[in-house]
Amino acid sequence: MTTAELIKQLFLSFNDKDSETFIKTARDYIEHEKRKKHNLVAKELEKALFSTNSVQNGGKRFKNFLPIPRDTEKGFPLLEIQQFDKSIDSLIVVNEIKVQLEQVVMEFKDSDILATYNLQNKKKILLCGKPGTGKTFSAQIISSILSIPLVYVRFDAIISSYLGETATNLRKVFDYIGSNTWVVLFDEFDVIGKNRDDSHEHGEIKRVVNNFLQMLDNFKGDSIILAATNHQNMLDPAIWRRFDEVIYYELPNENTRQQLLDFYLKPIKMNTDIDTTKAASMTAGFSPADIKMVTEEVMKTAIINSKSHLGQNELICAIEKFIRREKVRNNLMGDK
Ligand SMILES: Nc1ncnc2c1ncn2[C@@H]1O[C@H](COP(=O)(O)OP(=O)(O)OP(=O)(O)O)[C@@H](O)[C@H]1O
Ligand SMILES: [Mg+2]
Repeated sequence: MTTAELIKQLFLSFNDKDSETFIKTARDYIEHEKRKKHNLVAKELEKALFSTNSVQNGGKRFKNFLPIPRDTEKGFPLLEIQQFDKSIDSLIVVNEIKVQLEQVVMEFKDSDILATYNLQNKKKILLCGKPGTGKTFSAQIISSILSIPLVYVRFDAIISSYLGETATNLRKVFDYIGSNTWVVLFDEFDVIGKNRDDSHEHGEIKRVVNNFLQMLDNFKGDSIILAATNHQNMLDPAIWRRFDEVIYYELPNENTRQQLLDFYLKPIKMNTDIDTTKAASMTAGFSPADIKMVTEEVMKTAIINSKSHLGQNELICAIEKFIRREKVRNNLMGDK
């Protein structure tokens, strides 16, 4: 049965108060997760299904989970727990990046064996490169492959206008991370990671950088901590040294752009005149996210115009339209 069928069966048996079918289906679902190698998810589900602390039992099942930390002054959550089901095959990058990501995953899986040799798996990873090249996406993929939820931390959410509150927020986030094993992403990390000597920086932000680095240094948990930035040039050497691995995402070359076009155009049938080589040569400077956006646009146009097949002309027009749009955007930014 597919995931959807299993879940439907669970709902039906719940409605019918048929606990036997419910448990059987739940077991089938756990097996289904195991076959997908989502062993941690399977373990969690097994625990949830067979736990003696059922929900009726005062909700004790949740006692091991700390509440999501919040900003004391404004009350908003400082992090988000996210779950994904993404495969590394959907990340189209040069081979070096895949090898680096796979190494992080494999070292995590073999951390016990590594420890017997007194070696530590890579836990603190810096992801840098231009916007839309797959940094956030990679964190989601690592979380998916390991079946460990992603703790998503947006740096601008942590920075508080109240003096001293930012450090408290960071402390709360690190305490939370330390309470379990997670894949953690400090996204848009450059908000605070700017060169500490920059005189324009606010004093509070400088303190936060130091604070963050100290907490990163002192962090002894099992979680994998990823930090993403697209202003790596502005990061000072002290930050680089703190990471076990730095993964650099470049804009895709022509060959990779063609792979991206082919990948993202897969859902639609194409005319025989489609030549993604030509399209790839026209998209110099496009990020993978840009290419995704263009292909989605062109597919939607074809679908709403009831075209059964996509033609070369439409693809080229969509690329040209995107290039014009970027020009306008760059000009507007230049005017500022
Ligand atoms: N290398 C890639 N291969 C396939 N799809 C990609 C790739 N990079 C980005 N994408 C697509 O574009 C979307 C946006 O990319 P993502 O959020 O990972 O960019 P980013 O590098 O984090 O950018 P930013 O610096 O702006 O945060 C992804 O969710 C994914 O769908
Ligand atoms: Mg991002």
